[in-house]
Amino acid sequence: MSESPYRLAVIVGSVRDGRFGPVVANWFCRQASQRADLVVDLVDLAHVPAALGGAPGAAAPDEPRAPFAERIAAADAVVVVTPEYNHSYPGPLKAAIDSVGAQWHAKPVGFVSYGGISGGLRAVEPLRVVFAELHTVTIRETVSFAGAHACFDPAGEPVDAGPVNRAATAMLDQLGWWAEALRTARAARPYGS
Ligand SMILES: Cc1cc2nc3c(=O)[nH]c(=O)nc-3n(C[C@H](O)[C@H](O)[C@H](O)COP(=O)(O)O)c2cc1C
Repeated sequence: MSESPYRLAVIVGSVRDGRFGPVVANWFCRQASQRADLVVDLVDLAHVPAALGGAPGAAAPDEPRAPFAERIAAADAVVVVTPEYNHSYPGPLKAAIDSVGAQWHAKPVGFVSYGGISGGLRAVEPLRVVFAELHTVTIRETVSFAGAHACFDPAGEPVDAGPVNRAATAMLDQLGWWAEALRTARAARPYGS
């Protein structure tokens, strides 16, 4: 492990009223926060103006006030928590992704997906294409919840924690390798120089 924990931005990709996304994202953040190799910044797009058409004053009082671009710039790695909407990912997530440019470059991106029978994987695959254009490295291992609502108990814990905890560990192990490798590389030589 390197000298300091890497900074992981966890993006909550759904913004609609009544969304299930925070249940999934909060579980994932609890898993990630148990690790010594990272620190988490939970970025809820429901409070990010860039994802909401730039609506002024959309940020919640308890949401960090730094603009979305600054939070991505500060991150060494990103995990996108995304549902599947009509065989793809939410429009506000695309708006937020597109609002940022070079801040994405040379960083790893992992995915936690959820949805119906496909577990949100039809949202993840098109996201990989988008993130390739943004000079990121996407992580092969994913965490996926099929029939997501039934996967969690009323307290927000997975009803069958073993497999999903192992999936989260596998993804975070790969993400951590890339996060540290690319942090070192960016420091040695700015990307694109
Ligand atoms: C507009 C819409 C479209 C959806 N399309 C799909 C779909 O194509 N495939 C699927 O498996 N689930 C689909 N679902 C189910 C969602 O993935 C599931 O309800 C999930 O909880 C939505 O995330 P959210 O509650 O955080 O918004 C859809 C849900 C919505 C609201």
